[in-house]
Amino acid sequence: MSSQTFLLDGKETAFVTGQMILEAARAAGTLIPTLCYLKGETPTGACRVCLVEVAGARSLVAACSTPVTAGMEVRTDSERVLKTRKLIIELLLASGTHDCLVCEKNGDCRLQDLAYACGIQTMKFTPRNAGYPVENENPFIVRDFSRCILCGRCVQACNEVVVNRAISFGYRGSASKIVTGGDRPYHESECVFCGQCVEVCPVGALTEKKARWTGRPWETEKIRTTCPYCGVGCQQWLHVKDGRIGKVTAVEDAEPNQGRLCVKGRFGYDFIYSEERLKTPLIREGEGFREASWDEALDLVAAKFKEIIQKDGPDAIAGVSCARSLNEDSYQMQKFFRAVIGTNNIDHCART
Ligand code: SF4
Ligand code: SF4
Ligand code: SF4
Ligand code: FES
Repeated sequence: MSSQTFLLDGKETAFVTGQMILEAARAAGTLIPTLCYLKGETPTGACRVCLVEVAGARSLVAACSTPVTAGMEVRTDSERVLKTRKLIIELLLASGTHDCLVCEKNGDCRLQDLAYACGIQTMKFTPRNAGYPVENENPFIVRDFSRCILCGRCVQACNEVVVNRAISFGYRGSASKIVTGGDRPYHESECVFCGQCVEVCPVGALTEKKARWTGRPWETEKIRTTCPYCGVGCQQWLHVKDGRIGKVTAVEDAEPNQGRLCVKGRFGYDFIYSEERLKTPLIREGEGFREASWDEALDLVAAKFKEIIQKDGPDAIAGVSCARSLNEDSYQMQKFFRAVIGTNNIDHCART
């Protein structure tokens, strides 16, 4: 890779061979708006929001999918660019039902933000009624294609990021739509409900079902945490209002998950509020259980371990560590079994 320069809004700017105009501009601190661009994945050039002017080019070009060349002269803020960008946003707003007031995405919608940034004051074109019914049958995701702008980010997320290959573009022309195999609802398709498509949808076409009416983005606090489910340690944002989690999203650009989550990490947080959740240790007595303190429960377990070791030796005890534990806890568990109990009878449930 070699570093060369091009002219960005009149300023000599360095770029790395192979970089797209968008990436080189972002690296130089110039923000070109995007809708369909999904960082790290193959650029599709679907939305045209990132159009820029390149000297000598017949038409405007998509910054996300046009490689920079040495000496190229790029304008991101010319009158032609700004006028075209505004027109594209106006057309997208008319492509479906964009009644922000009742949309779950209000306040966190890239189309809404761009309409505001472009100074759009009124609907220039008559909105199309796509006539798609809202798909609400599954427990996790609401699909409302009357709000879909066909940016294709969900398709890329499903096919390239999580590689589940459950959705793609279907039909043609004005009937184009994002479909599963056979255009079936999600719960009857190959979808595994990882929710990655929801994570990347820039508008209100795909939203988290459980998050509805749990708080607007400006009412919620984002708290960073580590997923409690397995040893991978995915980084999450908890969207919290009044001490209650409304939804969980992935932390972008953070290791180890780089903006991804699985179905458990993204949607499996209800147990926190379950009435059936065990909150104190229980000791079996007769036919039932009685509540006990941690000290009492741990003393009892330790006494039983000692009793078994004395009678039958340490190999009479075996341990299975839980896949929901942290790596560090699983490490300690095996250390405890080998070094303290004195047996190699230690396993981990993920292995089975
Ligand atoms: S998707 Fe965005 S622009 Fe459309 S209604 Fe919802 S908030 Fe408004
Ligand atoms: S939830 Fe996951 S598997 Fe299902 S369509 Fe979305 S990205 Fe694909
Ligand atoms: S559902 Fe969302 S991410 Fe998928 S194409 Fe439509 S607007 Fe884009
Ligand atoms: S962001 Fe470049 S075409 Fe959509």
